[in-house]
Amino acid sequence: MTSNDVSNLKKLVAEKAVNDYVKDGMIVGLGTGSTAAFAIKKIGELIANGMKLTCVATSIQTEDLATEYGVNVVPLCDVDHVDVTIDGADEVDPQLQLIKGLGGALLREKIVAAATVTEIIIADESKIVEKLGTKAPLPVEVVPYGHNRTAFALKKQGCEPTLRKINGEVFRTDSGNFIYDCRFQSIDSPFFLESRINVIPGVVENGLFLNTASVVLISHPNGTITKMEK
Ligand code: 5RP
Repeated sequence: MTSNDVSNLKKLVAEKAVNDYVKDGMIVGLGTGSTAAFAIKKIGELIANGMKLTCVATSIQTEDLATEYGVNVVPLCDVDHVDVTIDGADEVDPQLQLIKGLGGALLREKIVAAATVTEIIIADESKIVEKLGTKAPLPVEVVPYGHNRTAFALKKQGCEPTLRKINGEVFRTDSGNFIYDCRFQSIDSPFFLESRINVIPGVVENGLFLNTASVVLISHPNGTITKMEK
């Protein structure tokens, strides 16, 4: 598949999510990443055509993109809930459990998801896995202080943690933290692993999004979209 084909699949599923779930007057969470970007563009078109929406962003990158598409974003603290969030994912398993955060926005994405009534995940078929951790590493956001000690504790959970760098520079999240991409062979017990990771001092958040997705929409190369629902 060419990168153009992949882009088309992302656009298709993003537009379907917006058309089916975003209604006038809603408070909408805007996800982060290349798939969510198509949803933000579509939301911009709806607003330009007169729909009234209040939007919150899951990253600074998304906030900037929203502004570019004419979508005004308010701080999450200004709303008491979010009706619908449309976000991407890096892996989706058959139980709708997810790995997110390869785009570096897992902390804000999880905070927005926790405030959201209906979390819609959009992805192309390549993100489907039988078991989490088999394709993507698990991103874990850690505070910079003593980060190599935190990485050592992560390694004891059975993974190979790699400090994320972009062009040789250590990547910083929107909150100024580091990310360790933790490569597991597979994640057999995601709930247990999450509970072990979350008690490591220095860990801010992890990329396991468990029981978070209400609906997952998946686009396929033949142009169809399937819906996975709890
Ligand atoms: C960012 C994320 C993204 O939703 C995830 O990485 C998917 O991105 P893309 O749609 O570009 O594949 O979790 O933190």
